[in-house]
Order: sequence, then structure tokens, then C-alpha cells
Amino acid sequence: MDFLTAYDAVPEADAAQRVALLRRKTAMDRAGLLRELRAVRPVFATPLGVFVTRHPDVLEVLSTPEVFTVGVFGPALEEVLGAPFVLSRDGADVHWRERGYGQLVLAPEDAPRVRALTVSLADGVLDAALAGAAERGSATFDLIQDYAWPAAARVAVEYLGFTGIPEETLHSCTRRMQWAFAVNPGGDPDVHTAGTAAGKELHDRVAALIADRRASSESPDDVLGRMLRTRLPAEFGFDDERINANLVGYLTGYQQNATQCVATAIKELAVRPEVLAEAERAAAEPDPARFDAYVWEALRFHPFVPATPRLCVRDHVLAAGTPRRTAIPSGTPVVAWLSSAMFDEDVVESPTEFRTGRPPSHNLVLGYGAHDCLGRYAASVIVPELVRRVLLRPGVRPPPGAEQSMDHAGTPYPQHYTVTAGPEGP
Ligand code: HEM
Repeated sequence: MDFLTAYDAVPEADAAQRVALLRRKTAMDRAGLLRELRAVRPVFATPLGVFVTRHPDVLEVLSTPEVFTVGVFGPALEEVLGAPFVLSRDGADVHWRERGYGQLVLAPEDAPRVRALTVSLADGVLDAALAGAAERGSATFDLIQDYAWPAAARVAVEYLGFTGIPEETLHSCTRRMQWAFAVNPGGDPDVHTAGTAAGKELHDRVAALIADRRASSESPDDVLGRMLRTRLPAEFGFDDERINANLVGYLTGYQQNATQCVATAIKELAVRPEVLAEAERAAAEPDPARFDAYVWEALRFHPFVPATPRLCVRDHVLAAGTPRRTAIPSGTPVVAWLSSAMFDEDVVESPTEFRTGRPPSHNLVLGYGAHDCLGRYAASVIVPELVRRVLLRPGVRPPPGAEQSMDHAGTPYPQHYTVTAGPEGP
């Protein structure tokens, strides 16, 4: 029986059973559910909110912040960070102004330098992971624990400027923070408390770091250094606490995402041996542009953010003038399914085929619209380069047959991914 037939058979009044059915299907066959919804009920009202699954409608939700706000998770994010942030607000003050500020300090022209930094730091972490495997007499190592997160955190220390803060702290704090604001729909108080404690820990570390930097005559050439040198008019009230909230917010938008993207991109390439071979050839070219496209296309199949919720704050007709036209009342939570939009058969040609060179608007891995990724220029070099460093080592691959074997260790995201620590090849 298809999903909607089973769902519709449950009386509307039995919301608990409908939710259970929806959660089960989402966990077991999300791609199948979204395919069915796109075809049959592209705007789907559920007790969990309205699921929006088609490409133009997802874009409409994400680019209409005066109607669809981040109010679903904004308050939790503010509690976790202890302060407002671009991703916790919409409208004139924090969001509009500090988006501009973020575009200034996370400058596109940093990209070549960040790429070079990623090459050297990631190679060092990879060498250490291989040496660790050799010492243990092991033929494998854990790509996520031994490489992806420490390499991502090391880049964060050097580029964003978390000087002297242990990488372990950056990773474990952002993990608890991310879970508390982004993947705690039931509002589990323990998850929330752990997230706010982690946010406070990072805030306090960064406050001490800012005090040290202010007391020093040196001003390192990293994002924090740029923030401390930037003067905004006093009436904006942009003090060191705002610098702190923004820097910690940037890390929260980056660390877990980068870690997971490395593992899932390698998985998506490894399950397609012919594509992997092409990507390996592209990785060896001096210009990484052709290789990068493999990574972003791989992530289309497994994005870190498959869906992002919004709160409808004003009665709105979605997809007006189309057969999907749906009135959404104020107060309704809406789920914008990025992962579904990227497979919308009416917009994306042969969406299930792995193809580089698709139009940029078909790849929503870094979000879309009012809250799209502020770190996109950094992300667009760090993520592919972290993957490229691995593919340049022919001995480091998921073992044959274990390409899909990611261990979530009871958490919302993969925590372990075994790869071979074999000879490095010619
Ligand atoms: C590493 C891979 C990354 C991925 C996959 C990623 C993904 C995303 C996505 C999907 C969004 C949209 C969220 C939404 O609409 O609810 C977003 C927003 C954001 N990202 Fe990233 N991101 C990455 C890296 C970074 C980096 C390097 C930074 C900063 C250094 C960053 C900072 C942000 C911020 C501040 C926002 C919120 C922007 C706003 O609310 O206006 N991200 N990111």
C-alpha cells in the first residue's frame, strides 16, 4: 500500500497515529515518501506542519521571510547561543544588519587562502590518522573521528580564529548546540540543557580570547581579527558580546556540517564506483574546480540539512496560480524540504542521475533565500578540499561492501565511518 493511502485511512482526529506513521516512513524511506508527495500531494498538511516538497514552493518559502520566519527554532537557538543571531531572527535589526556584517567578515576573497590552509592542515590530520592505524596494527581507521572532525576543527581554529581553544571543545560544544536547536523537535529538556551549557562554555572561552586579543598589540589575520578591527557606528550597539555571539554562531553553522559533509560525500561517491573513478581523476588535476563539482553533486544526494522549518506568521497562499495553490494560515509550522526540491522531476533533469554541471539553483545544500549559508565561500572550498585530500590517497577508501556502513552511535548524525588505511599507491 502506498504511504498516502495508509495515512488517509487513519482518522484525522488520531493525530498521534498519523504522526507515528509519518515518522516511521520518514525514517525508513524518506526518498520514497518525498517522491510520492511530490507526485500526489506536493503541499501536505500534517500534524507536524505543512510539508513543502516541490522546488518552486521550497524557494518561495525560503525567500519570503516576512511570512515564513525562523520562529520554529529561533528561540531555542537564542537560548543555546545566549544571544540573538542571524539564523534566530528575521527582519530589520539583527538579521538584515548582521547578514551584511557576516558578508564583510566572511569575505569571498579569503577562499584561495582558506583552500591552501585546508590542504596543509587536513594532510597533517590524515597523516596522523594513518600513523595511528599503523601503530595500532590496524588496517582501517575511523574517517569521522580520526579525520573529518579534527581537520574541520583545525581549519576553524586557524581561519575563524579560535586560537588556543582545544579542537575537542569546539567539536563537542557545537555538537551539543546543534542537537539542541536543530534536531530536538520534542524539546527534550536534557538535550536543551546540554546545548545551553555548551553554548555558555564556548561563549566564556571566546570572551577570554577576545579580552586577550584586545590586550595584545598583535591582530592576527583571521576572522576574529577582522571582527575586532571592524568599527561600526556606536548606535548599532555592536560590542564585543555581539562579536562573540557571531563568531560562536559561525562555528555552530560550520563544524558539524563540514564534518558530516566529508563523510557523506565520500559515501555517495564510493557507492558509485564509476563516478568515484572520475572524481579521483579530477582530484589529481591542479585546478580543483572540476573535482569540487563532484562533491557538491554527491551532497545533493545526502545533504546535511535535508529540511528546514519555518513558521508562517501571516496568512499566505503558497504556489498561487498553480494547481498546488494552498492557503496556509498564520501560526502554521512549514517544513521546506530542500532534499525533495533537489529531486523535483519537473525542474531538475534526471534527478536520480549523478551529473556534475547542473544549474546552481538545483543544488540547495547550502540553503536558499533569506537565510542561505553566510559561510558559503569558506564552505565552498573547505568541504571539497577535505574530501579531495582523502581521494588523493588511493589506500584510504571505505572497504568494499561497507560503503554505506555509517554508524550513528545512537545520535542524530553519523559518528563513525570505517575506511582502509592501506598503502598509498604509486
Ligand atoms: C561546511 C558546510 C556547510 C553547510 C552544509 C552549511 C549549510 C547551511 C544551510 C543549509 C544553511 C541554511 C539554514 C536554513 O535555512 O535554515 C546555512 C546557513 C548558515 N550558515 Fe552554513 N553551512 C556550511 C558552512 C558554513 C560556514 C563555514 C559558516 C561560517 C563560517 C556558516 C555559517 C552559516 C550561517 C551564519 C547561516 C545562517 C545565515 C542566516 O541566517 O542568514 N556555514 N548553512
